[in-house]
Amino acid sequence: MKILIINGPNLNMLGIREPALYGRQDYPALEEYCRTACRELSAQYSCEVECEIFQSNYEGALVEKIQQAYFDHTEGIVINPAAYTHTSVAILDALKAAAVPAAEVHLTDIREREEFRRISYAGMACEQHFIGYGFEGYRMALEYLVRAYGKGEVQYDNCL
Ligand code: DQA
Repeated sequence: MKILIINGPNLNMLGIREPALYGRQDYPALEEYCRTACRELSAQYSCEVECEIFQSNYEGALVEKIQQAYFDHTEGIVINPAAYTHTSVAILDALKAAAVPAAEVHLTDIREREEFRRISYAGMACEQHFIGYGFEGYRMALEYLVRAYGKGEVQYDNCL
């Protein structure tokens, strides 16, 4: 199963940016966490989970990567659009256009922060939302996609 993990602006600054909010682990640690989660889920669900991780600070690059997921026959998207969550209709439209099953992740609980973070445009095109669980939210989102759309040996429908 091909899954694309997309991270938006300033997530490359993890470990440096506002550690009281985002923690002290850096972006390579998040990538490693996601790769390990994919390996573990592959074994757990007897389903080869192949993950690509992409980060950009540019809205257009994120839009193009989401479009590419359609042409690459990607089967699931895990997305943390970061600040573009709250502003980008372009990312929402790209997710709708690609129509690849998507799960939204945020490290922090955007519902408990400033008022302007409460709206998530990208989230409107996502099936599930894992908000405020730190790195763990990425594993939860990956597991959701594997259980819902993976074609491993296990019959997932009964598990949900
Ligand atoms: C974030 C929350 C956003 O509001 C913020 O702009 C980010 C990170 C999160 O993961 O908690 O950059 O998406």
